[in-house]
Amino acid sequence: MLLVLCALLLSSLLQHSSASVSSIYDVLKAHGLPMGLLPKGVKEFRFDEGGRFEVHLDQACNAKFESELHYDLNVSGTISYGQIGALSGISAQELFLWFPVKEIRVDIPSSGIIYFDVGVVFKQFSLSLFETPPDCTAVRSEDLGGFHDGAVMIAELSSSSKSKSEVLEHQIVQE
Ligand SMILES: *[C@@H]1O[C@H](CO)[C@@H](O)[C@H](O)[C@H]1NC(C)=O
Repeated sequence: MLLVLCALLLSSLLQHSSASVSSIYDVLKAHGLPMGLLPKGVKEFRFDEGGRFEVHLDQACNAKFESELHYDLNVSGTISYGQIGALSGISAQELFLWFPVKEIRVDIPSSGIIYFDVGVVFKQFSLSLFETPPDCTAVRSEDLGGFHDGAVMIAELSSSSKSKSEVLEHQIVQE
């Protein structure tokens, strides 16, 4: 009986706390981040006290800002004030390649600039581009060829460029 009461109490508490955060866009706003970082079409989201969030979209899709951003079906990361770290599920297009965005940061106090850490460089955009959640166009899986190339390319750039040149040398020696 006590257990049932506890469970009831707990579930009403949980319902109450989840009601106070009505959308992931509110979570972004509450952390000094622009709502337009995530596109329309959020099906469900989770956000815990440690700042970990998980967003499930209707579909994998692309949204156009100054360059194009790709959103996977699932996007996750850690939100703190003015920053999203450990990001997974968002890629930015650069020179026809897709680079996974690892971190997003805005200046506090605001300078009107938002930074995307894409591994090799920080891309800078105007914050005003991200004021409202953008429409996001569904992408078919065959359109993602370039996306995978970009991900592979960045892996080669950051970790195995040395071993690759060794392989190349090896091939040259064999010839
Ligand atoms: C997205 O998340 C859902 C729920 O956690 C999971 O079932 C699904 O496999 C994930 N999809 C991808 C493509 O990672």
